[in-house]
Amino acid sequence: MVILGIESSCDETAAAVVRDGRELLSNVIASQVDIHARYGGVVPEIASRKHIEAVAPTILKALGDAGLTLEAVDGIAVTQGPGLIGSLLVGLSTAKAIAFARRIPLAGVNHLEGHVAAVFLTPEPPPFPFIALVVSGGHTTIYLVEGFGRFTVLGQTRDDAAGEAFDKAAKLLDIGYPGGVVIDRLAKEGDVKAMAFPRGMRDGLDFSFSGLKTSLMVMLKKRGAPFSGRELNDVAASYQEAIVDVLVAKTLRAAAMAGVKRIVVCGGVAANSRLRERFRSDAAAAGMEVFVPPPVLCTDNAAMIAVVGTHLLKEGRRDGLGLNAVSRWPAPVAP
Ligand code: KG4
Ligand code: ZN
Repeated sequence: MVILGIESSCDETAAAVVRDGRELLSNVIASQVDIHARYGGVVPEIASRKHIEAVAPTILKALGDAGLTLEAVDGIAVTQGPGLIGSLLVGLSTAKAIAFARRIPLAGVNHLEGHVAAVFLTPEPPPFPFIALVVSGGHTTIYLVEGFGRFTVLGQTRDDAAGEAFDKAAKLLDIGYPGGVVIDRLAKEGDVKAMAFPRGMRDGLDFSFSGLKTSLMVMLKKRGAPFSGRELNDVAASYQEAIVDVLVAKTLRAAAMAGVKRIVVCGGVAANSRLRERFRSDAAAAGMEVFVPPPVLCTDNAAMIAVVGTHLLKEGRRDGLGLNAVSRWPAPVAP
């Protein structure tokens, strides 16, 4: 089964072709990052307009890279939500138009389930059940995943997402956008113990990152001047460590509580090099196995959407032309 995936929930226009939900034939991502960088964050109206320009060429490139034409495509999977409504509608309308014109089946996919499903494109994915930490610009949630569409929330952020904590810090430090990528790079040359940042909500499985951001704000105010050079590296490393510490500790705690030894880490923040390193070492020490897709499959992409779509279509799901975008939509829960 060859599935064309389309993703446009935020600021990346993406298309990918996946065979049998396992084999990646192409993966094209048109990023709008340079445009939004000027504003220090995604501007929804601009994102929608850019998706309109990029969507057809991105799909054509994905088909071209896979060496296929639309005739070879058995079904279309498209991100239905959650995300920016105007952005979602571009991918959704395009997917519906192709499905209607070519008479191929269509499946609307949950973006968060997509992030988790990225792991099935890795050479040795875990069997169900596993614990999944979905950590992105909009979400920080720990799930028990027992199958496709069978998610149970074990913990989640009470305020900012981890990606937001990175992006807002980068804005405060005036070091560029997207914040996670810049802080990751600067932190490599910094000392994780140089500055003391708070670890929010030590107990339980929920997260809180707003206090961390505030402490950086207070630090900057007291100082009265921006950080630069070596000190900037230290701030980045220490701040990043505060985020990584709680993400790793709570995910391992959730796995221990659920009696599950396999952990999937996914979503844009899972591209963070320190988070990947710490998960590997701390999970091994706890006797757990950790599965992290390569960075290009952690940040937004359409291959992960095609994987979920393959499963839905195989189960007989057929979405009609009335399929609508959903801006707020938790991952599909266990029945
Ligand atoms: O999954 P994603 O691409 O889009 C959403 O669904 O939100 O995640 C985007 C988030 C942004 O907050 C970005 O700063 C963060 O992922 N991110 C990173 C890294 N690369 C992307 N955060 C930390 N380190 C990175 N290397
Ligand atoms: Zn995402």
